Amino acid sequence: MVVVQRSLRKLLGVLHPSGLETARFQSVYTQQQDLLSTKLEIELTPKLKVKPAAEGLPFGHHFTDHMLTISWNTRRGWGKPKIRPFGNLELHPASKVFHYAQELYEGMKAYRGLDGQVRLFRPSLNMDRMNMTAERSCLPTFDSNQLLECIRKLIVIELDWVPSSLSSSLYIRPTMIGTESTLGLGPSTEATLFVILSPVGSYFSAKGIKPVTLLCDPRFVRATPGGCGYTKMGSNYAPTLWVQKAAEAEGCEQVLWVFGEDQEVTEVGAMNIFTLMKTDAGCELVTPPLTSGTVLPGVTRRSILELAMAKPGLTVSERKITLPEILTAQSEGRLLEMFGSGTAAIVSPVGGLKYNGVHHKVPTPQFGLASQFLEQLNDIYYGNIEHPWAVDVLGTNFTQEDIVLPSVSVDIKS
Ligand code: COI
Repeated sequence: MVVVQRSLRKLLGVLHPSGLETARFQSVYTQQQDLLSTKLEIELTPKLKVKPAAEGLPFGHHFTDHMLTISWNTRRGWGKPKIRPFGNLELHPASKVFHYAQELYEGMKAYRGLDGQVRLFRPSLNMDRMNMTAERSCLPTFDSNQLLECIRKLIVIELDWVPSSLSSSLYIRPTMIGTESTLGLGPSTEATLFVILSPVGSYFSAKGIKPVTLLCDPRFVRATPGGCGYTKMGSNYAPTLWVQKAAEAEGCEQVLWVFGEDQEVTEVGAMNIFTLMKTDAGCELVTPPLTSGTVLPGVTRRSILELAMAKPGLTVSERKITLPEILTAQSEGRLLEMFGSGTAAIVSPVGGLKYNGVHHKVPTPQFGLASQFLEQLNDIYYGNIEHPWAVDVLGTNFTQEDIVLPSVSVDIKS
């Protein structure tokens, strides 16, 4: 029994500290089917689209020929995954997603290296986060490897859409929506998970990376402790659009999100934020911690932290950092760099902070940390160096291991 419980914990507990709660919730629906890649059905389009040029691709404008859809409901559980021609979804106007924003998404990329190989970057981290968001959104969870295997098969079908360019990639957008067609406020009893693919270039502009100026206005808050800032729900993003417009009206490109009386820094735009400061002992790279629940656990954030820890002489801290602390460092000449990180933009240097109408310049050294991390990550993405974070799309099957795992339902009863 102890062994049994451990294996259950291993299967569910890794997703989220409250994974066992999910198990209890799911056990109500004993007949529910799991999401299984072996049930995948494929319908190919009779007519392929013309592909755009690999260079200068705008973000998220072009979509590939096929998409993945999987339906779910409380009675049956997960339906058969389907790869089918790319097209519109047909939804009842009362679908919960339209009224109560029961939605989540992920962002991942596939990269084609100079060797022609296509690689994913740490894709299981996105699946774990998607499950964590699903749990918080009252949307169904799933076996990460099973969904990854369906996504992998979609990418293999769309392999020619992965751009042959070291400044482009194939953006992967897994999404889940509540589709029950009733207006009562409650968890949807039906859901659709879909994955669409889009060949993309640089997130901000076709001209490449340009340092951004941030509006720092403590009146605007992105997320609060106890809220959902740590999840990738679409409802975290819509309220930021108006503030983004306010930033642009002030001549800024992005918003620095701060929270509370002490103006604790949380994120920048739709990205995590890093600050490099000179200290008595050397240099400290700081990013806000995940503990208060206001910060998204970014895959790029985590990767930069892990790369940074290997840099000699650099202190790496996940700790609370306030806007006054950054402005003091700036005025004393100790602010060395600031940059955002995320899957879409990868690394985005900050060139200035606008606070109380005053512009404070932030250094953007040509060969600083932001550019070093960008280069290191690009080397991994595009396979310039061998790295365990890069997963070869053709040489991997995400579900092979599952065959030997014990069955969860048998374990619960024994
Ligand atoms: C990403 O960086 O992948 C995101 O999800 C941000 C999004 C606004 C494009």
